[in-house]
Amino acid sequence: MTDLLKKLYLYGILPVATVSDENDAVPLANALKKGGVGIIEVTFRTSAAAKAISLIRENCPDVIIGAGTVLTKEQVDEAVSAGASFIVSPGFNPETVKYCISKNIPIIPGCVTGGEMEQAMALGLNTVKFFPSEAMGGVGYLKAVSAPYKNLRFVPTGGIDKNNISSYLALPCVAACGGSFMVSKVLIESKNFDEITRLTAEAVKTVLGLEIRHVGVNCKSADEAENTAADLGKFFGAPLDDRGGAIYVGSSFEVMKSPYRGKNGHIAVATSSPDRARFYLENRGFEFDESTASYTSDGKLKVIYTKNDIGGFALHLLQK
Ligand code: 3PG
Repeated sequence: MTDLLKKLYLYGILPVATVSDENDAVPLANALKKGGVGIIEVTFRTSAAAKAISLIRENCPDVIIGAGTVLTKEQVDEAVSAGASFIVSPGFNPETVKYCISKNIPIIPGCVTGGEMEQAMALGLNTVKFFPSEAMGGVGYLKAVSAPYKNLRFVPTGGIDKNNISSYLALPCVAACGGSFMVSKVLIESKNFDEITRLTAEAVKTVLGLEIRHVGVNCKSADEAENTAADLGKFFGAPLDDRGGAIYVGSSFEVMKSPYRGKNGHIAVATSSPDRARFYLENRGFEFDESTASYTSDGKLKVIYTKNDIGGFALHLLQK
């Protein structure tokens, strides 16, 4: 996986913005970044696109910028000289795709049929756009059409919003979802960047789906753990389940028989994607202890602890 595709996957969201006034470009990129997304596709649907890309490139060095709605080789050149790191096109145009490949420019072309997908794969691509996603049949169609192509990843775009994004990201073939729902033309043109940040943060929250799964309580001995578990069980009317090193109280508490991570214990936080949650939280300044990480056979993070406690509790991420 290239670094770009890895970052796109870790953000999980590709905001697709159409900018009419290049002066809006930098505040827009900053608003997205503040909301937790450091990647943007600026569409070549206005004459301000190239200038907008170059302003973001100059002023927001940690934001990844792609050019969208790129239909010709000339637009590829224009976008790349403006500073775009990748190209997106609505459909599959072999000429543009081959041109990008020959220049080593990452391209994510739109593919909706098996024929287009196979052409993309034959040219060596492993990630394509699926557009217009909802109009083409959404999750159901994507799941069916992608089934024979085990190594192909998709960026569904078109009609995606906070209500359906999670159902797309739940498909293993989906790398990220594109959409304008947090960067609509109206919001950009009215310079409502605070609302863009709010919608972006809301989308990130939806994508990560962080929720407390259980609380781990540290005890100094098996006796203390038994008493603690008994009290918690009585309080919540929950059954006890002794699993050796710890006694579970229902599914809400894990009472440790000897001190474990965290001064007081730990909080298990379930998420739809530990990889994305870790990336997001690291971008927010939290640190994780790699020695506590465990991964699935295909390399996806399953569990990892934070390096530092919060309020005397270590936190660990957990795959939902
Ligand atoms: C695009 O250019 O990819 C689409 O306009 C984005 O689709 P959406 O506006 O339905 O999110």
